[in-house]
Formats: sequence, C-alpha cells, structure tokens
Amino acid sequence: MVEIGTNIETAIYHLRKKDVIGLPTETVYGLAGNALNEQAILKIFEVKNRPFFDPLIIHVADIDSVSDYVTYIPPALKKIMTHFGAGPITYLLQRKAIIPDLVTAGLERVAIRIPKNPLAQQLLSSLDFPLAAPSANPFGYISPTSAQHVAQQLGEKIPYVLDGGVCSVGLESTIIGWDGTSVLVHRLGGLSLEELKEVNENIKLELSISSNPISPGQLDTHYAPRKKMYLGDINILKQEFHHTNYGLLTFGSQKLLSDLHLDLSKNGSIEEAAINLFAYMRQLDDSNCEIILAEALPEVGLGRAINDRLRRASC
Ligand code: TXA
Ligand code: MG
Repeated sequence: MVEIGTNIETAIYHLRKKDVIGLPTETVYGLAGNALNEQAILKIFEVKNRPFFDPLIIHVADIDSVSDYVTYIPPALKKIMTHFGAGPITYLLQRKAIIPDLVTAGLERVAIRIPKNPLAQQLLSSLDFPLAAPSANPFGYISPTSAQHVAQQLGEKIPYVLDGGVCSVGLESTIIGWDGTSVLVHRLGGLSLEELKEVNENIKLELSISSNPISPGQLDTHYAPRKKMYLGDINILKQEFHHTNYGLLTFGSQKLLSDLHLDLSKNGSIEEAAINLFAYMRQLDDSNCEIILAEALPEVGLGRAINDRLRRASC
C-alpha cells in the first residue's frame, strides 16, 4: 500500500530504484520517475495508462540545469525564464540527445519546467537526474491537487507520495514555445497571459486541438469527471435539469443552495477558485449527484485557464 510522507530520503530511495512516486508541485501533483531511465519512464506510462504518443514534461531544480538537457534557449524565452524563475510555466525547447525518445514521443523538443514547491525543489537539487512527471491522475481524469488525491487513484501502483500539501496554484503549468518571432502559448495554465505579456508583448495563442496535437495532451476529453458536466448560465441549466439531482459548481455565490452546491470562491477570488477547482470537481464526482452544472469565470487572469478546464470537462 502506498505511503504518504514528507521524507526526501524515502523519495530518493524509490527514484534510484527506478520506481515512480507522487511529486508535489505548486500546479498539480506529478507522477515522477528518472527522466533519463527508460525503465522508469515506461513505468510512468503504465501506471497512468497513458498512450506513448503523449510526451512528458521534465522537471529540473534551476535555470542552470535546463541547459544540461536542451541545445539552445531562444533569448525571448530565456528572458521569460529569468524573470519568473521557478514557477507554473513549461518551456518547449530543442532537446539534447541525452533525453530518451520515450520522454518526447519522438518530438525534437522537450517540455521542461522548474517547479517552485519547496519539497520538489529540495528533491530535485538532491538528485543527479531530472524527473519526468505527467500529472498524477489516470489518463483523461481530473489532475490531483493533494497527496490524498494521488493515493486514492494510483495508491495501489506506486510506493510513495511525497506530501507537499495542497497545491498553491492548482492548475497545470502554462506551456510556451517560440516560432522565431513570437512566444506561442500552447496550454493556458497557472501563469496568466497578463503576467507573460508584462515580459513579452508579442504573444500568440496556439492552443492545440486533437486534430493538431502540438501538445497532444490537449485532447478535448481531458480533465473530465466521470459524471456529465454542463457549463453555462446556472439559472438556465437549473431550469433545464430541474428533475435531476444535480451538483452545482459556482463562482462568487455567497449563499449555498444545498450540500451538493460548491462555490469556487465566495468572495470572487480567481486565485482561490484555481486552488479549489479540481478538488471540488472530484468532490462532486464522488458525491451522489447525477450530473454537475457549472458556470464560467470572467475571462481574465487565471480565469481563462479555469474556463479552459471547465470546457474540456463539460459535454
Ligand atoms: O503543471 C504541470 O505541467 C504538471 C506538473 C506535474 O508539472 N504536469 C502536467 O503534465 O500537466 P501532463 O503530462 O499532464 O501535461 C503535459 C502536457 C501534455 O499536454 C503533453 O502533451 C505536453 O505537455 N507536452 C509534453 N512534452 C511535449 C513536447 N515535447 N511537445 C509538445 N507538447 C508536449
Ligand atoms: Mg495531465
């Protein structure tokens, strides 16, 4: 049975044995293994039930380490990296040959990230290899934002979850690349477009879709609960489904209407909503409601990424 704990040495022990563990990051928990070892990488795909065409993000401790695994960092991306340092952002960069094909699904670029979570930082700086880690959920399900989420779903398949508490951002990292002239945003995430634009005005959204999978995990069905979720005007949805035992996921609602009504942030904080989003989706998915009715947030800051996840989770 899986152990949940805060012991870095235990985490290192399992990783050195080429096993995989739950890794806390400020975005979501990862399912981590030695990124330079094929046995560990295969285990990640197997535990997560993830198709091999969907590449993995590798995690390193600091900016200097990025250069160990990529041939070149375009100045525009280097500027962004230096500005934000560790955080909820992932860079697509030309990989060095040391990165196994399995990690990138054969693509020439590798996705690389420097997580800020203190335990992740401590772990990565004690290792002499980077960690490949997709989000620690079964393929297609909602990402985990606590050690307990990881244990609930993958607990029988992994020996250890390093417990870094509840994720402080709560949304997967923003994924960016470079096309020679612009910064391309391939996945909206925990670092907002507004923040990025403060460093580089020339930003293009190039969110991949399943027919054009630059970021293959951007498949339409991602982040979905098992129950059907409907996104729209809550009052209209409530009327439409009034015969159904629905759960409600709202934003900025001071008054809760039932036990099955969760509000992402009663006082309208988008950051708080991001932290609660995946946990509340899970809670409603595990409750006795039949369907989930949800409303979108304002399209600003992290609201964009939250709405993206809500849309993908809805039918
Ligand atoms: O916040 C995060 O990014 C979390 C934490 C654990 O770091 N990780 C995460 O990993 O969300 P995952 O595997 O669930 O999503 C990574 C996304 C996928 O959509 C994948 O297709 C894309 O990144 N990706 C990874 N490597 C890529 C590459 N070389 N080229 C294009 N897309 C890539
Ligand atoms: Mg994922």
